[in-house]
Amino acid sequence: MSAPGDDTVRSGAPVSHRPLGILAALPQELGDLIEAMRAESGLRTITHGQRDYHLGTFHGAPCVVTLARVGKVAAAATVSALIHAFDVEAVVFTGVAGGVGQEVRVGDIVVASELLQHDLDASPLFPRFEVPLLGVSRFSANASLASQLAAACERFIAEEGAATAARFGTREPRVHRGLIISGDQFVASAAGVQALRDALPDALAVEMEGAAIAQVCHEYGVPCAVVRTISDTADDHAPASFVAFLTEIAGTYSNAILTRFLAARGSAA
Ligand code: ADE
Repeated sequence: MSAPGDDTVRSGAPVSHRPLGILAALPQELGDLIEAMRAESGLRTITHGQRDYHLGTFHGAPCVVTLARVGKVAAAATVSALIHAFDVEAVVFTGVAGGVGQEVRVGDIVVASELLQHDLDASPLFPRFEVPLLGVSRFSANASLASQLAAACERFIAEEGAATAARFGTREPRVHRGLIISGDQFVASAAGVQALRDALPDALAVEMEGAAIAQVCHEYGVPCAVVRTISDTADDHAPASFVAFLTEIAGTYSNAILTRFLAARGSAA
């Protein structure tokens, strides 16, 4: 029998009542998650450090959902608040990214296994990309969370991939897993994306927040995972492609992925 306050069920599976932190940079990247939580449980919204943190449940799972805004500092500040003010048990970041890998196309999905800050360079004092005094350049995503996200993406593609591709005029989406790189730059030139490929040949996607979140989570021992839908290929067409994808498509992907991810977590709890 469980003692009062004991969070361990007899099957041995730990049951946590700490919330999951879910964040995106921009509202379009969250889809309808906040509205879905409002409908399921009602919402409590707490404003902290100029951001709104929405507390509720989705598929029975307690969540804190917020918008980080754009860039590494904004992301680090927001995830730090999720950890310290809201005691999240894990963090999931969702949003769009530019494709860097040669096989990564608009409409594909990238689930990070590792994250790196491509604009961090304290050489020759420290190796390029290494976070000084931490001794790490590549932060690992939590393997279990990343697999759960990838499985949710694969289910989405199996169930709705063809219809989604037809609706948006993209190829049928593919899921890639590997390195996501982050920096305080919107990469929008053939030369810029080629320079990233040359420096980091295994990079799949570029964005502006993920590795900052991964660093803070690493430092506090909080599991994290990042899923990104490819809105552009970081070349000269990137600004137009990004805006169109963000406006018309990003929410559909986030809804589809987060619903499946959270439903599976809810049924496993
Ligand atoms: N997010 C989406 N597309 C991006 C790009 N091309 N560069 C940086 N962040 C992005």
